[in-house]
Amino acid sequence: MLTLRLGTDRGKHQMPAAPVTIPVTTRSGAYDAVVGLGVLDDLGKHLQSLPGRAPGRVMIVADQGIPQAMIDRARASIAEAGFQVGLIVLTPTEADKSPTTLNAIWSALLAFGATRDDMLVALGGGIVGDIAGFAAATYLRGIRVVQCPSTLLAMVDASVGGKTGINLALGADLLKNMAGCFHQPSLVLADVGLLKSLADRQFRSGLAECLKHGLLAGDFDDPALWTWTITSLGPLLSLDPDALTQLVARNVAVKARVVGVDERETAENHGRALLNLGHTFGHAIETLPNVRPEGAAPGASLLHGEAVGLGLLAAARCAGLAGLADRALPDAIAEALQACSLPIHAVGLPDSGLVLARMHHDKKARSGRIRLILPTDRARCVIRDDLAESVIVEAIDSLRA
Ligand code: GLY
Repeated sequence: MLTLRLGTDRGKHQMPAAPVTIPVTTRSGAYDAVVGLGVLDDLGKHLQSLPGRAPGRVMIVADQGIPQAMIDRARASIAEAGFQVGLIVLTPTEADKSPTTLNAIWSALLAFGATRDDMLVALGGGIVGDIAGFAAATYLRGIRVVQCPSTLLAMVDASVGGKTGINLALGADLLKNMAGCFHQPSLVLADVGLLKSLADRQFRSGLAECLKHGLLAGDFDDPALWTWTITSLGPLLSLDPDALTQLVARNVAVKARVVGVDERETAENHGRALLNLGHTFGHAIETLPNVRPEGAAPGASLLHGEAVGLGLLAAARCAGLAGLADRALPDAIAEALQACSLPIHAVGLPDSGLVLARMHHDKKARSGRIRLILPTDRARCVIRDDLAESVIVEAIDSLRA
């Protein structure tokens, strides 16, 4: 059972809620995720109290998109705690989540003189967290990594659970997360104050992952997460720190429970595979050239969370068409996406046959069958690989603007 200290009802002039600590326990490692306002300033102190030998050197891998002040805070906190600090700044694009960037991090660690006791701190969004995690997993056959996510998406999903990796190119096609490994972090430090500097569209994109968790949290001890998220959108969208702390803590707790029972995604019909809800559709359209959210200017592309949101809707439509979900569910999901200003249609989708072919290439497809996670109500999902392709095509077609 996880122990959470969550913010309670308090008057508006009171201090923000204390940070919440969520223990994450997996077969290969246990660590804390600490969520709260201002926790980045305690980074150095947290590094001092991690189990194992103290590091001499700490390399920050930072996201070019985050404000310099954030990098300075992390750097100062680490230096004040007595560690030598290095810094490498990455461009956070899917194209840069590449072997070339991985090699640049390895080289920077070598030049820094990093040894087995030293550590890497990933400060940024999911792209930086994934590639820094992979660099840490492989440098000297594995050094520790601390994840300091700066985006909502990375806070509630990518920073927890130890998935690391890079994208691989196949001709002109970029295939996501095709090389990587599991490498649990030693600590996750999610400072919700960092969300203030996040572009509004990126924040809303992160909400799609929260909606995803809401749709599966029933089997992971938080059946009210979907409803709480929808009814809390007012304070969440105005970046109320207590609401954000509760959002991130509850989502991290759900993810912790999922990876706690199935760290390596080996469970057949349950477990971590459920976290791919919305992703089989989402990944198939996310990196396609010329696909953009309805209403976006030509040249714009889909953000990961926007693609996942569309994927949630497509999955719910498949579930509805297959008689697995109540008929109101797809509309409820579309309403929730719209309330978060997330798209429910995309412009520029290619022929559904091509999308289907990309879904077949998904690394979770098995023996030529597309494995889909399908929501059955507002808190539970099932995993199916026997849906007629015509059903999947109809769901893809419903996303066309
Ligand atoms: N983002 C899905 C997972 O961590 O398994």
